[in-house]
Amino acid sequence: MEIIKLENVKKNYQLGKTIVPALNGVNLCIKKGEFTCIVGPSGSGKTTLLNIIGCLDTPTDGNAVLFEKYEVSRLNDKEATKLRRERIGFIFQTFNLIPVLNVYENIEFPLVIQGIKSSERKKRVEALVEELKLLEFVKHKPEELSGGQRQRIAIARALVANPELVLADEPTANLDSENGANIMRIMRQLNEKHNVTFLFSTHDSRVIDKAKRIIKIEDGRIKEN
Ligand SMILES: Nc1ncnc2c1ncn2[C@@H]1O[C@H](COP(=O)(O)OP(=O)(O)O)[C@@H](O)[C@H]1O
Ligand SMILES: [Mg+2]
Repeated sequence: MEIIKLENVKKNYQLGKTIVPALNGVNLCIKKGEFTCIVGPSGSGKTTLLNIIGCLDTPTDGNAVLFEKYEVSRLNDKEATKLRRERIGFIFQTFNLIPVLNVYENIEFPLVIQGIKSSERKKRVEALVEELKLLEFVKHKPEELSGGQRQRIAIARALVANPELVLADEPTANLDSENGANIMRIMRQLNEKHNVTFLFSTHDSRVIDKAKRIIKIEDGRIKEN
């Protein structure tokens, strides 16, 4: 199954009177079960690309199709939100955890929004807490934890709704090398054990080494595949 199919995707940003081209005709196909890394220098279009795939933004031109039937430009807000909540997990570079909630509540949050009943929520959160070795932190607030711990929580939160696709924008950028390697190992295990499709961006060579497939992007264009 083609989880992501991009055809000639272009994205321009308007900055005052100037147009900033961020993506210049991107073609890309990601199949179920891939563990793929997008590599490119700062400003090459990685975040723009992941935001479009994550339905957080729309292309200026071209087609972006998810799960073989959803065209990103044609989704209304409600449809995009539903797709994000139910089928896509997003891991942000800066974690984006909710400061007033403890670790357990942060992980549980996407299920609360979805209206999933509490016994089911408990089952899913506890399984991830165990898998990501977070048990000793469940009552802590994010600010009491290290970057590596916070990123593990962000991963648990991205996975709790059992998404088919996980997008991660420079997931190790704010981590030291040991924590970065840990995060990569965890994501790779989840990919292999649960066949979750991962697409992540980086310019960290240690992350690139762990990818099964590497896609290079430069000036908003895919260089090689
Ligand atoms: N909201 C925005 N408004 C104007 N220009 C933007 C905006 N977001 C990104 N850009 C520009 O688009 C290009 C690609 O940016 P981005 O996707 O963030 O690249 P990367 O994630 O690889 O660093 C850059 O030239 C950046 O300055
Ligand atoms: Mg970026």
